[in-house]
Amino acid sequence: MATTATKMEKIVALCRRRGFIFQSSEIYGGINGFWDYGPMGVELKRNIKDAWWHDCVRNPPVGPDGREVQMVGVDCSIIMNPKVWEASGHATGFADPMIDCKTEGCKGRFRADQIGDVPCPLKPSKHPGQFDKCQLTEARQFNLMFESHAGAIADEANKVWLRPETAQGIFANFKNVCDSTRVKIPFGIAQIGKAFRNEINPRNFTFRSREFEQMEIEFFCHDKDSMMWWEFWRDTRINWYQNLGLASDHLRPRNQTDKELAHYSKACTDIEYMFPFSDEPQELEGVAHRGCFDLNAHKEKSGKDLSYFDDETKERFLPTVIEPSAGADRATLAFICEAYTEDPSRPSPELMKFHPRLAPIKAAVFPLVNKDGMPEIGEAIFRELKKHYPVQYDPKASIGKRYARMDEAGTPFCLTIDGQSKEDGTVTVRDRDTGAQSRIDKTRCLEFLREKMGAS
Ligand code: GAP
Repeated sequence: MATTATKMEKIVALCRRRGFIFQSSEIYGGINGFWDYGPMGVELKRNIKDAWWHDCVRNPPVGPDGREVQMVGVDCSIIMNPKVWEASGHATGFADPMIDCKTEGCKGRFRADQIGDVPCPLKPSKHPGQFDKCQLTEARQFNLMFESHAGAIADEANKVWLRPETAQGIFANFKNVCDSTRVKIPFGIAQIGKAFRNEINPRNFTFRSREFEQMEIEFFCHDKDSMMWWEFWRDTRINWYQNLGLASDHLRPRNQTDKELAHYSKACTDIEYMFPFSDEPQELEGVAHRGCFDLNAHKEKSGKDLSYFDDETKERFLPTVIEPSAGADRATLAFICEAYTEDPSRPSPELMKFHPRLAPIKAAVFPLVNKDGMPEIGEAIFRELKKHYPVQYDPKASIGKRYARMDEAGTPFCLTIDGQSKEDGTVTVRDRDTGAQSRIDKTRCLEFLREKMGAS
């Protein structure tokens, strides 16, 4: 079996070879902390975001109060009025401690709290500060928000920031959503979108990037019910990852300690995943109890009344917020790492065992040989299936090579038309994970895929 380090290297190589993830601007030497999704990766990530939106927004689970959870979505701008970030605290407080190395030929920049995890650029067998040539500065605070300017003049008055999280767009629209819909507390607002952080040390493939996507929910409830909702979202989110294939022993819910918790927060669980690049589980998603900190901050800064009036109890209050905040790219990386499998008994040992809902290609259709009426049957099945699912038709190469290619892309089913198909109208279905083959009637292919796909 591969060692921890080489497993990650193999995953990165497969991602590039099969068009899941490329380095951004690769032909110019790349750019640190930015990544592109290729034809396979874009389908995979879209499936993850669609599954999240479907399971959290369009078809949310039943809540602890026995009712279907009320959820609506928004899609806010990346650049917002800078006052948003002053109110939220990001303008002054969204910073990491940074250390520079003054040594000629190094000029490295490191996050002070991660210096023991990164190699010294001049002597990679040591960490910064351990090599006698290192000249490290004291740590200083470095704000992670990317700056830009809105308008023709690049001055302080026109300064704007690229959002470092999607959450604030939701808080800033809380009143708009309440006024324009019939939602009643408890309810949630969800958003999927890009966020930008000028990370000091982007690393571990896409895990810590400078541009990434978040899938965030701000769930508004009465404070008296807030711990019940926090537990509900924590458990719901862990189950979501498991239902889509992350093994329970690779997932760890970790409660933040009192020291880690923000001053306004009663509780926060980090849902962590055992990525192959680390011996310790790493954060995939945080489920935080945020009190009414954000709405209160925006109420104070904007001077607008952001309170909620409950028609039934006649009570006016600022809702408490539960925030399940996930990274779409981190989730994608976790599903890629989980799917990556080496099976030495196969001629091509590397395969990706994606859950059928997440697999970029749901099925491949193969005529066993490219003659004897088999292509005609195959093309007809392919034309029917592609109206509903991403599927591929491949009439070339040996059947073993075609199976191996699909296994490596994570395609769960291969439908093969052979000599018997013309006689009795059946095709073989080969299962990616077991290699087992069974026969189904050619008219049942779509129904078969629908059953395997589960929720859609
Ligand atoms: N609104 C709360 C918030 O943004 P966070 O823990 O800073 O909380 C939430 O971010 C999630 O966003 C993380 O759990 C992670 O999945 C993802 N994320 C954060 N920074 C990231 C980065 N630099 N690269 C990739 N994903 C990141």
